[in-house]
Amino acid sequence: MSQSLTIPRPDDWHLHLRDGAVLRAVLPETARHFGRAIIMPNLVPPVVTGKDAAAYRDRIMAALPEGITFEPLMTLYLTEETDPNDVAAAHQNGLIRAVKLYPAGATTNSASGVRDFEKVRGVLDTMAEIGLTLCVHGEVTDAEIDIFDREAVFIDRVLDPLRRATPGLRVVMEHITTSNGVDYVKAHDAGLGATITTHHLVINRNHLLVGGIRPHYYCLPVAKREEHRLALRAAATSGDARFFLGTDSAPHTDPNKESDCGCAGCFTATNTLSILAEVFEQEGALPRLAGFASKHGPAFYGLPVNTETITLTKGDPVSYPQKIDTEDGPVTVFDPQMLLHWDVSQ
Ligand code: NCD
Ligand code: ZN
Repeated sequence: MSQSLTIPRPDDWHLHLRDGAVLRAVLPETARHFGRAIIMPNLVPPVVTGKDAAAYRDRIMAALPEGITFEPLMTLYLTEETDPNDVAAAHQNGLIRAVKLYPAGATTNSASGVRDFEKVRGVLDTMAEIGLTLCVHGEVTDAEIDIFDREAVFIDRVLDPLRRATPGLRVVMEHITTSNGVDYVKAHDAGLGATITTHHLVINRNHLLVGGIRPHYYCLPVAKREEHRLALRAAATSGDARFFLGTDSAPHTDPNKESDCGCAGCFTATNTLSILAEVFEQEGALPRLAGFASKHGPAFYGLPVNTETITLTKGDPVSYPQKIDTEDGPVTVFDPQMLLHWDVSQ
C-alpha cells in the first residue's frame, strides 16, 4: 500500500530567481510546486526602489510558463540611501512584503548593503510603524571573525542591538545555520521568526570539505558542524511556528561554481519537497511538514494559507534531473546523497 501525504500548497520564504535566461530556466522548478515565494532582491544592480521591484515582478510574471499560477512576493534591498517614503508606498500598494538587509560584503551581490546602521534608522522605524518585515542575512563581515562564527557573532553584535533599538520591528532571521540562531528565536517571542533551508537540514561542513572540495555544497551562511545541523532539524520538525521553509535556492551556472573562486549558493528548487519529506519522515515528523512548508510562513507574514494542495506519495526512488540547462550554462541540482522516495503530484 503506498503512503501519501496531502498538504496545502507550500510557499518558499527565501528564493533567488535571478534574471534573464537563468530566471526563465529556474522559475518553473519553483512554480511547479510552490504557490508563492519571497523573491530576493540581490540582482546586479540590486532591486532598491519600488519602481525596480515592480519592473522585476513584471519580468518574473513574463517568464512564468502558461497555465502555472505563482505569486512572487517582492522585496527591496536595503541600502544606506533607501528612502523610507518609497518603502512605505511600495508596502501600502501591496507591491512588497519585506525589506532585505545584507551587511555590506556578506554574500553574493551584497556590495550595496549596509555598513552604518545609523543610516538606515529612519527606514527601520518606518517599517516598525507600518508592520513591514525585515529579512536579515545574519552574518558579520569583519575580516577577523572566523567564517564559521559569523552568524553567532552577528546575533550578539548586530541583531540583538538592532531589535532593541527598534521595538516592534518584525524580523526574519534568514537561513539560520546554528543552534545559536535556533536558541535566539526561541528566546524572543514577538515578531521574530527564522527560515531554514532544505540543504542545511541535510549537509554539515564535512559534506563540503571531506574527500575533496565540493563546490556545489558551498553556500552562505556556510554549513556548520553536525551539532548545528541537528539543532536545525529539531527546530524545523518541532512544529514551532516561528520556524518555516526558506529554501535559499540560489542558482549559479557550473562554471561560476566550479572555479578557483566559486560562487556561494545551493540550487534546491527542483528536489526540495522530496528531500523535505524524506527528512521529516526520518525524524518521525511527517505530520508537521505542512506546518513548516505551508502554514507557519503565511502566519508570520499575515497571509492566508494556500487553498490548493499537493500530494506527496511514497514509492520507488524518485528521479530528477542532475542539472537544469539554461541559455547561460547548466545549473547543478543539489545532491542530497540519499535516495528520495516521495514524489510530488498536484
Ligand atoms: C545567495 C546568492 O547566491 O545570491 N547565496 C547563498 O549562498 N545563499 C546569497 C545569499 O542568500 O546569501
Ligand atoms: Zn539567499
